[in-house]
Amino acid sequence: MKLTHNTVFITGGTSGIGRALAEAFHRRGNQVIIAGRRQALLEEIARANPGMDTVELDITDPAQIKAVAQHVIKRHPDLNVVINNAGIMPFDNAASGELDDAQATHLLATNVLGPVRISAAFVEHLKTRPEAWIINNSSVLAFIPLAVTALYSATKAAIHSYTLSQRFMLRETTVKVLEISPPWVDTDLIHKSGDPRAMPLDEFIGETMEKLQGDSDEIIVDRINPLRSNPGPNEYALIAQFNQSVIDNPIPVA
Ligand SMILES: NC(=O)c1ccc[n+]([C@@H]2O[C@H](COP(=O)([O-])OP(=O)(O)OC[C@H]3O[C@@H](n4cnc5c(N)ncnc54)[C@H](OP(=O)(O)O)[C@@H]3O)[C@@H](O)[C@H]2O)c1
Repeated sequence: MKLTHNTVFITGGTSGIGRALAEAFHRRGNQVIIAGRRQALLEEIARANPGMDTVELDITDPAQIKAVAQHVIKRHPDLNVVINNAGIMPFDNAASGELDDAQATHLLATNVLGPVRISAAFVEHLKTRPEAWIINNSSVLAFIPLAVTALYSATKAAIHSYTLSQRFMLRETTVKVLEISPPWVDTDLIHKSGDPRAMPLDEFIGETMEKLQGDSDEIIVDRINPLRSNPGPNEYALIAQFNQSVIDNPIPVA
């Protein structure tokens, strides 16, 4: 995709990957609008990046999504890029009879219905632009689930699948659909720990922006190519090995 002369709306712009992607587009001279729930952070990031616009949005609220989309499109009629980035990653236990139903429902509303509703709220406008992109942030866990975040991994597999359908359905429009599938990146998603297995955020953003500039539909940093290639009839062997390694060397939590 082109990395300049865009108007970019990004959810989850208040921290981690979303903020860093927003700032990378801002530095290249694009008009960027970040969304998130934390108003104080939105204000702080706007102050640090003069010209960046902000909007408060909870992506689990369908009415708010529609209202924010109308507001953003009215304020920025050149809007041509929507990045579905916001997400949450709670732990769960797929082997337990005690399901935290409220957590599961909130997770699906955030990670699956959020991007689906955001896409629907913006897509008719995007079709009117000469060149437009929807970029969905899934995860490497879409391809190799982390068993201690079973439903999170399943939401990301759902986003991967939805992205493939969306790309096909929009194939004869001006809207291209891209997917970013990050590896473990050192952000607050679980707990920013400096763990050597996590990719430093600035390295991840550097490689991701470089790859976004190419013509690939899937943006995947080189270090996880083997994991992306794992799905298939014998996929469980690597899934078991990967999850055993996480049991042996647990992910640091706050
Ligand atoms: N870090 C990783 O290892 C990794 C790996 C693969 C994929 N990802 C994906 O990357 C995306 C960003 O994660 P991150 O690592 O940057 O984590 P992060 O720093 O925790 O950022 C998550 C962002 O999502 C926003 N958000 C969460 N719930 C929301 C809601 N209901 N409404 C609106 N915004 C909401 C948060 O903003 P507010 O709190 O201000 O609303 C925050 O800006 C997620 O989709 C995640 O699944 C991350």
